[in-house]
Amino acid sequence: AWASVPAGPPDPILGISEAFKADKDSKKINLGVGAYRDDKGKPYVLPSVKKAEEIVRSSNPDKEYLPITGLPEFTKSAAKLAYGADSSPLSDGRISITQSISGTGALRIGGAFLARHYPHAKAIYLPVPTWGNHIPLFKDSGLEVRGYRYFDKSTIGLDFAGLKADLQAAPEQSIVLLHACAHNPTGVDPTQQQWKEISDIVKERKLFPFFDMAYQGFASGSTSRDAFALRHFVSEGHQVALAQSFAKNMGLYGERVGAFSLVTASPEEKARVDSQLKIVIRPMYSNPPLHGARIASTILGDQALNAQWEGEVKGMADRIISMRETLYNTLTNDLKTPGEWSHIKSQIGMFSFTGLKPEQTKALAEKAHVFMTADGRISMAGLNAGNVHYFSESVDAAVRG
Ligand code: LMR
Repeated sequence: AWASVPAGPPDPILGISEAFKADKDSKKINLGVGAYRDDKGKPYVLPSVKKAEEIVRSSNPDKEYLPITGLPEFTKSAAKLAYGADSSPLSDGRISITQSISGTGALRIGGAFLARHYPHAKAIYLPVPTWGNHIPLFKDSGLEVRGYRYFDKSTIGLDFAGLKADLQAAPEQSIVLLHACAHNPTGVDPTQQQWKEISDIVKERKLFPFFDMAYQGFASGSTSRDAFALRHFVSEGHQVALAQSFAKNMGLYGERVGAFSLVTASPEEKARVDSQLKIVIRPMYSNPPLHGARIASTILGDQALNAQWEGEVKGMADRIISMRETLYNTLTNDLKTPGEWSHIKSQIGMFSFTGLKPEQTKALAEKAHVFMTADGRISMAGLNAGNVHYFSESVDAAVRG
């Protein structure tokens, strides 16, 4: 039956993890997937997560099915974390929210819901470049994928003029995907002033804003500061869609905890949207997993544990920022590597978009056992005091050819 099925390419991000696993050299470094590592290069289970797991375990929980839209205590807390405790759509009871299979699942529910129910043009504009999985994800959801300019290679910064021109030229009612903070893969975010201008254009052009917030807390170390763009749009009256992930900020990668929400016009409209979200989700996967949602809702629902968690998020963000400093200093001051590397320090979040070319990334994997995506993105969290010098020397050698 499968004789004519062609072999597909490996995933551009998760395929790197497979190549890394297959490499047996002890010096190998994986800077592909965006997953936090501690200063010893090991996966990090947050102490607040361990504490929450103990609390959950001691409550002797059952294993019943969750409702289709997930654990209500979790979704309530997730909405509060994103929109803010003083958010008016939240207090009005007009945010429709469902638990999701992490951020990817949230985006996919959103894509499917918009393809079915958004009454206008079904094109979604994605930044160029964007997280690789956005493109097949929205295509598979039934939307037409288009791009808007985002990154300027010559300045290694935001192409704000291009972004504005492309959003202004987009047909009215188009959907526009915005990375709420810590843009993946570039690490380049608009300033608060620029976000205000983007909000004005989105309003003027009657575009529909869909936020992907996979890194709340990871950009600045503060979950409320990182929610600025989302909250600004909401305060300007935009009825946004939002995908949230707890993979990075709680380190719950494999637990698959996330949420998808829509701001609606009224509690009555919310109830109708809620009913249709269930109809979208039920044939996809019935209902979401329990354990991670219990952990997240325990953390978010307990003041002391929540404060501890916020501190741990800041700790992860700070370690990444210190690695940016070390990498920049080693390349620029110690090795005098040709090129300008200050973007390593100015970029935000989990990634640095190094500017390394595909042939250089290939040489780094083959000669130095250093793995990263072909676009030159590195997960800063994969660097630590023990490997940053070896990494810098390897980059230096690759750049000098
Ligand atoms: C990444 O960009 O590395 C992460 O979002 C993980 C993933 O699923 O690709």
